[in-house]
Amino acid sequence: MCGVHYLVQWSRGLFGLGQSFILLAATAVSVVVSSAASSATDEPPQSAVASLKKESVAEAAYVGDEDCRSCHQNLVSTYHLTAHYITSRLPAKDSISGKFTAGSNILATLNTNLFFEMDATEQGFFQTAVMRQSPTDMVYRAERFDVVIGSSRKGQTYLFWKGGQLFELPVSYWVGLDEWVNSPGYRDGSAFFSKGVTPRCLECHATSFKSLTPPLNRYDKTSLVLGITCEKCHGPGGGHAARYRAQPPPKSPSETAIINTARLSRDRQIDLCALCHSGGSPLPSVPSLSYKPGDVLAKFLDIPIPAPNAHVDVHGGQVHLLKRSRCFQSSETMTCTTCHNVHTPQRDLATFASNCLACHKVERCGVFPKLGHEIDGKCVICHMPLQPTDQIISSVNGKQLQPEVRNHQIGIYPEVHLP
Ligand code: HEC
Ligand code: HEC
Ligand code: HEC
Ligand code: HEC
Ligand code: HEC
Ligand code: HEC
Ligand code: HEC
Repeated sequence: MCGVHYLVQWSRGLFGLGQSFILLAATAVSVVVSSAASSATDEPPQSAVASLKKESVAEAAYVGDEDCRSCHQNLVSTYHLTAHYITSRLPAKDSISGKFTAGSNILATLNTNLFFEMDATEQGFFQTAVMRQSPTDMVYRAERFDVVIGSSRKGQTYLFWKGGQLFELPVSYWVGLDEWVNSPGYRDGSAFFSKGVTPRCLECHATSFKSLTPPLNRYDKTSLVLGITCEKCHGPGGGHAARYRAQPPPKSPSETAIINTARLSRDRQIDLCALCHSGGSPLPSVPSLSYKPGDVLAKFLDIPIPAPNAHVDVHGGQVHLLKRSRCFQSSETMTCTTCHNVHTPQRDLATFASNCLACHKVERCGVFPKLGHEIDGKCVICHMPLQPTDQIISSVNGKQLQPEVRNHQIGIYPEVHLP
């Protein structure tokens, strides 16, 4: 966090503060031009990234979702609406949730000499930090939104490229407030542009990429396949597609040439989800992307198992928490897909409750004698309550923001009541 280091990259301009909001438009444009100029040498245009996607996955007989679409049209259409698929995207008007309109595009900070402005320009979308050095002297730094992370159920964080390295932008977006906020973990009142993005972040939020370490945040830009695609969970599908295009079609499941996770053992099924839903960001023990569904995850990732009474954060901790539930421990079949169909968005809590009824009777519930059928369809509210995470803390106006996540330790929470 060396201020001097990044100040070198700041540009300087002379503006009276009273005029700064008006003049900033001009400021941003001049920065945009220089940033676009530098990117001409070391950054391919966004459209090139998109068109290269297919080539880079093709190497390993990965064919991409559009190929699956020719035979699994409905699955692909509904899957493309899910949080998994849109969890990382290129920047565009409809992928960035924050507003760029005048008045809604400023994030003031606790430091009265610093604010951020978000601009949509012809060269792209930019975040500019504006720091007042003296009443007449402003320094500013602008960086482009290059990658959008987050489906916007809760929020989004943005990344930018600099010389082949990927960094996090200081301003994020918060759905609950519909506002720009300081990025999680960033000190309100600072303008920090040097937080590198580790491979683990992309492994959970994208499909594939090529690392060019060192440093840890250097990548082959053209290799980045954004969104979580079909083959992340089913393995390479090139052979499968070819098999079904040939006649006659396969006669037995062993000939389908693709992984149907439903036929894996319970442990291997959970391993697939645990790749991204077992909390923290443990460092991979071997190159992380070599894990394929069906593999034993522990051979690829060193995921610490929390001690029985240790606190497990609700964010990303679904696997550890579910495993602590009596439902999971006392049944031999429960997996994540007992309740989740990952091929389509699922939002209705009553539909989730119907999954409980596969194993429980409403009458078994301890509060049934008192509340009767008022509890129908509401099991999840009391037995998997929403709780704040301690792992993603952002701030705005000096206030701390913590998203609420459903606790997957299905259990008895006497303090929770129906609204
Ligand atoms: C040429 C047509 C075709 C293409 C292309 C295709 N599939 Fe299939 N796939 C089928 C058919 C037919 C079945 C069997 C019926 C079903 O489950 O829909 C099938 C079954 C599957 C199964 C279940 C396999 C099993 O053993 O139970 C999975 C998983 C699957 N496809 C995934 C994919 C993915 C991922 C892609 C894209 C990479 C893809 N498919 C591309 C035709 C195709
Ligand atoms: C170990 C896997 C993992 C890593 C590493 C990880 N995330 Fe996440 N992230 C998740 C999961 C899982 C969720 C959503 C589920 C939850 O909250 O439990 C999520 C949620 C988010 C969300 C909120 C999305 C929304 O709208 O709800 C954002 C933004 C986000 N992550 C950004 C990042 C960034 C940026 C990085 C790296 C710098 C990162 N995450 C690292 C797994 C991960
Ligand atoms: C997040 C992981 C994940 C992603 C992404 C994913 N699937 Fe699946 N898929 C699964 C799981 C898990 C199952 C097994 C479901 C079960 O246990 O009932 C499955 C089952 C299937 C089946 C067999 C269906 C059946 O009823 O037996 C097909 C076909 C399939 N997926 C195709 C696709 C296609 C096409 C895509 C992309 C549009 C896709 N999947 C994306 C996890 C995933
Ligand atoms: C490659 C990493 C990865 C894998 C594998 C993965 N997930 Fe996720 N999952 C994520 C991320 C990241 C998010 C958060 C997406 C967002 O909101 O931006 C997420 C979100 C979800 C959500 C919330 C979706 C919503 O719309 O609220 C569910 C449910 C979920 N995952 C279940 C599963 C299950 C079940 C499996 C295993 C079959 C699985 N995931 C495998 C990374 C993964
Ligand atoms: C695959 C079957 C299965 C499913 C699905 C299931 N459970 Fe359970 N659950 C069990 C078993 C088995 C037990 C332990 C024996 C018992 O109490 O019946 C249990 C125990 C419980 C307990 C007692 C927990 C404790 O710590 O004492 C609660 C509460 C509960 N389940 C609620 C739910 C709710 C709510 C859902 C849906 C979100 C659900 N269960 C889904 C099988 C399941
Ligand atoms: C007994 C049913 C059940 C099982 C089993 C289950 N979930 Fe969930 N899950 C739910 C419910 C209910 C929600 C809340 C949906 C909502 O609020 O929209 C949820 C939400 C989620 C979310 C979004 C969390 C949030 O609040 O943003 C993720 C991620 C997730 N589940 C992953 C998993 C994974 C991974 C597994 C397996 C380890 C799993 N789930 C097993 C019922 C279940
Ligand atoms: C208003 C909150 C609330 C709702 C809604 C609710 N429960 Fe419960 N449930 C409880 C509480 C509290 C207990 C513990 C009561 C006690 O032990 O005195 C409990 C106990 C249970 C138990 C454990 C019983 C035992 O003998 O250990 C099961 C199983 C259960 N509920 C299932 C369900 C199912 C299924 C639903 C949805 C149809 C549901 N609950 C809806 C609050 C709720």
